[in-house]
This record gives sequence, structure tokens and C-alpha cells, in this order.
Amino acid sequence: MSKPDMAPDTKRMVRPPAEVIYAEELAALAACDSGPRPSGWKLSPRAVRQFIIGADAPVVHGAQGAKKKTTITQKFYGDDSLVERCIVTLLGNRGLLLVGEPGTAKSMLSELLSAAISGNSLLTIQGTAGTTDDQIKYSWNYALLLAEGPSPRALVPSPLYSGMKNGALVRFEEITRCQPEIQDTLVSLLSDKCIQVPELPEPDAVRFAEKGFNIIGTANLRDRGVHEMSSALKRRFNFETVAPLADKGMELRLVKEQTEALLRESEVKVECPNDVLDLLVTTFNDLRHGRTEEGTVVEKPSTVMSTAEAVAVSHSAALDAAYFGNGRLESGHVARQLLGTVLKDNPDDLKKLKHYFDVVVKARGKGNKTWQQFYEAKKWLRG
Ligand SMILES: Nc1ncnc2c1ncn2[C@@H]1O[C@H](COP(=O)(O)OP(=O)(O)O)[C@@H](O)[C@H]1O
Ligand SMILES: [Mg+2]
Repeated sequence: MSKPDMAPDTKRMVRPPAEVIYAEELAALAACDSGPRPSGWKLSPRAVRQFIIGADAPVVHGAQGAKKKTTITQKFYGDDSLVERCIVTLLGNRGLLLVGEPGTAKSMLSELLSAAISGNSLLTIQGTAGTTDDQIKYSWNYALLLAEGPSPRALVPSPLYSGMKNGALVRFEEITRCQPEIQDTLVSLLSDKCIQVPELPEPDAVRFAEKGFNIIGTANLRDRGVHEMSSALKRRFNFETVAPLADKGMELRLVKEQTEALLRESEVKVECPNDVLDLLVTTFNDLRHGRTEEGTVVEKPSTVMSTAEAVAVSHSAALDAAYFGNGRLESGHVARQLLGTVLKDNPDDLKKLKHYFDVVVKARGKGNKTWQQFYEAKKWLRG
């Protein structure tokens, strides 16, 4: 799918891909990108880095007087050197594998890298227990195959095949969810950097990867249903661990900015006071670490209290405030939405959450209205 086809409907999309959302930023960076550009890359490595971690000053671009300023927003928070290492890996011969807890922005980072480097983040294979060989290599349009026999026209390319053909990055999400023998299909593809199509005569019997091709895999460490990766495949990747954000102030900024951006996208106006967002991020931090800022030990729920979940709760709480409240986010809205995150499949988690309210929230509520309202909203915590 090319960008021009997608442009007219962007506003109607629930979630446009990164290259569409940030089309202006990407164009601005390309316009004043003076760095050396690797073969097959749309931007120089420096510009890719800037796209992901943001720029201090707006980028000035445009020709002959029609100068325009574009702000390059920060999209990935935390470890800037991790971003640099990822870019360097993609310049080389090995694939990049982002591993870590769920909700640490591995998928987001792989999408941003593909959007910046190849201008396309849609060449994606989603790994599942049912992923087949065909989905990784190629399959056939059976009507054409029966009518004409094997031909390039009848071949249905996989995202990996297209990535090799067009010299673009390919994303392989949740690679370890695939059965080990399916994962191992990748071993030879990544060593030889080509796909054999024995059904087709020369020269189509082998599709060599063009420059610009590489693969970004992601794998969650803590999810159920993941398989071990073979050491042969591990050797084809450089591993980068994406850690949860350690800095609460940074997480607060991230939650605020991303909630505001999501609300803008859904064209909803809600006032999100800092103290309510701070309460939300503090609650997530306490439950994630099993220890509060004051040093009180609390029981960790079995669900992952990731930053991604914090953003989801704050977005839903803000929508609750917009449609069922008076347009101002309050701690009660947060409590109402928290349950859907914490209580997934383990009934004990509700007890842990209630205990947190009785021990920590109640004490903080003495003398603090926001926390007091949060405590009063404990009535919503019913499983
Ligand atoms: N360091 C971070 N920088 C930016 N966003 C983050 C970060 N950590 C978590 N997030 C949040 O996580 C969301 C993306 O999660 P996702 O990429 O699906 O995680 P994963 O693939 O690791 O499970 C982002 O939209 C953002 O709200
Ligand atoms: Mg993911």
C-alpha cells in the first residue's frame, strides 16, 4: 500500500501508521538531512535518531523564502543510546531483536524505525502459534495458479518477500509465539538474504534482498505461550532489551503527552490536571514495584502494570470524564478504569488492589483532596 493511496482517508482511520501520522516530520527531516544516507535508507542514521527521540529546536526547511518550521516530537522516552544501538544494528548484516516486558514500546520502536528508515511500517508479520511457512515466505493465488501455472503474477508475496524485493525493513512481531520449526525458517533466509522460489523458472527462482532490507523482531519475555528461540536463529540477531521506564517524572511526561495526543486524535477536549495524572503514574509505579515511594511494601498484581497500560487507563479515564463527567479528569475516573487493567484473569488481583487502597491510598488521602477522592472511588472496585 503506498502513502498517496492512504492519504485521503487518514482522518477516518482509527490508527494510521507512523509514516502517515508523522508524514510532515519525516518530510521535514528528509528536506534538511545533510548526513550520509546508507543505500536503501530514506534518511541518514542521525535523522532517524532525531525522528525517534525528538529535536531540541524546530527543523527549518522549505525552499526560496517559503521557510517552514516543523517540531520533531519525542516519541520514544528513556534510553537514547538504545535507539542509537538499534540503528547501528540495522546498518549491519544482523537483524534486530527487541526483547522485554510487555508494554515497554518494543512494537512502537520497531514501527518508528521502519517508518523513518524505509518510509513504510506496514511490512509486518504477526507471530502466532498458527503462523505458517507461507506467511513468512510466499503463497499463491490459487485461481491464477490453476489457470496459468506458477508465475510471478500468481505469487502472493509475504511482507518478508516484499521487504527483500523493495529493500525495506520488515517487522516480525512476537517472533517467539511461532512454533520453533517456523521460527527456524528464518535462519536460512537471514543468512542467505534471499528467498528461493523453486516453482518458478529462472530468473524468478530466487529473490535476492535489495539494500535497505533487514528485519526487526520483537519478543515479550513475560507472556504465556512463548517458545524458546534456537541458538542458530539467536545468532542472526542482535538482542536489545527494552527496559520499563525507571524515571517517574519522565513517565508522567510521557503519559501526559500521549493522553493529550490521543484525545486530540479522538477530537475530545478534556482538562487533565497534573495532580490526577501524577496520582495515576504513582499508583502504577507502586503496584509495579511492590513498594511505595514511602517504602511501604504492597503486593504486586500478576498483571503487567506497564507504561502502555498507564496511557490506556489515562485515555479511558479522560474519555469517561468527557462523556459521563464535566470535562475534567478526576481521580474517580482513574479508579473506575483501573479495574479493567489490573483485573484480567486472576481474582486475587482485586484483593491486592483493595488492600493498596486501604493501606496506601487512604493514608495519602489525609490532607490531600485528589487522593481522598481516589479513596472514595474504591466503591468502583468490584470484580
Ligand atoms: N519508553 C517509552 N517511550 C514511549 N512510549 C512508551 C514507552 N514505554 C511504554 N510506552 C507506551 O507503550 C505504548 C506502546 O506499547 P507497545 O509498543 O505495544 O509495547 P510492547 O510491544 O513492548 O508490548 C506506547 O504507545 C506508549 O504509550
Ligand atoms: Mg508488542
